[in-house]
Amino acid sequence: MIGVVSGKGGVGKTTLVANLGSVLSYKFKKSVVIVDCNITTSHLGLYLGMYYTPVTLNKVLLGEEEMGSAMYDHFTGMKVVPASLALKDLQGVDIFNLKDTIKNLFGKTDIVILDSAPGLGREAVSVLRACDEVLLITTPYVPSVMDIIKLNEVINDLGIKPLGVVLNMKSKEKYELKSGEVEGLVELPVISSIPLDKNVQRSLALKTPVVTFMPNSPASKQITSLAARLIGENYEPPGLLSRVKSFFKS
Ligand SMILES: Nc1ncnc2c1ncn2[C@@H]1O[C@H](COP(=O)(O)OP(=O)(O)OP(=O)(O)O)[C@@H](O)[C@H]1O
Ligand SMILES: [Mg+2]
Repeated sequence: MIGVVSGKGGVGKTTLVANLGSVLSYKFKKSVVIVDCNITTSHLGLYLGMYYTPVTLNKVLLGEEEMGSAMYDHFTGMKVVPASLALKDLQGVDIFNLKDTIKNLFGKTDIVILDSAPGLGREAVSVLRACDEVLLITTPYVPSVMDIIKLNEVINDLGIKPLGVVLNMKSKEKYELKSGEVEGLVELPVISSIPLDKNVQRSLALKTPVVTFMPNSPASKQITSLAARLIGENYEPPGLLSRVKSFFKS
């Protein structure tokens, strides 16, 4: 059970969850469930073009439906549990005991990835309480990095395993924090640097994950490497070296 968390909002959690889930499923053939745990501003279903989802996590949290009825098949093979887009569906919903709601997913699935709300509010803390490992995601800027330092303290207090930091939307500008600087500040390794890549927004407009829309785009290659790392597999991004290797193989 991996939580994708951040202190600051808008740093790329939902994008990462949708793409990691997709690539782990269609490329690495894992059984994957991704869950939208950001119930107040839910986007995961929107990012994947899943608009008609009559049963959502909200109904499962209310005890009105089983988790199985809130799971939808995505074309990559992963299963998606969306949260409702309607304000009225927040009435009476308490996400704090998310852990009990999703515990049945253990054993039946290789990987469960939770898309968190940003910050340290009740919604975000429910994800921390529910998962056993977390990826902390940040942009290469001071405010966003400061927020994950705080978040990491909470993660330590709760005894969850931090898998490392994902540095997203890097664009090689001088004013950006470097990987080493982020590692020094957070005291965790940066395990992936995902570039700022227009194809991510293009794919969002098409409601399809960038890893399937453009598997060789700079962001897709990094996300695929991260996915491989999470499951202990080797992945060599297509580039000169792999082209040379396949030339000599044929
Ligand atoms: N590597 C990237 N390159 C370019 N754009 C990106 C990248 N990652 C994310 N984005 C864009 O940044 C925006 C915010 O991403 P996303 O919704 O995934 O963030 P979030 O952390 O889930 O936000 P929130 O905290 O509101 O839930 C989206 O428009 C997304 O397409
Ligand atoms: Mg989000």
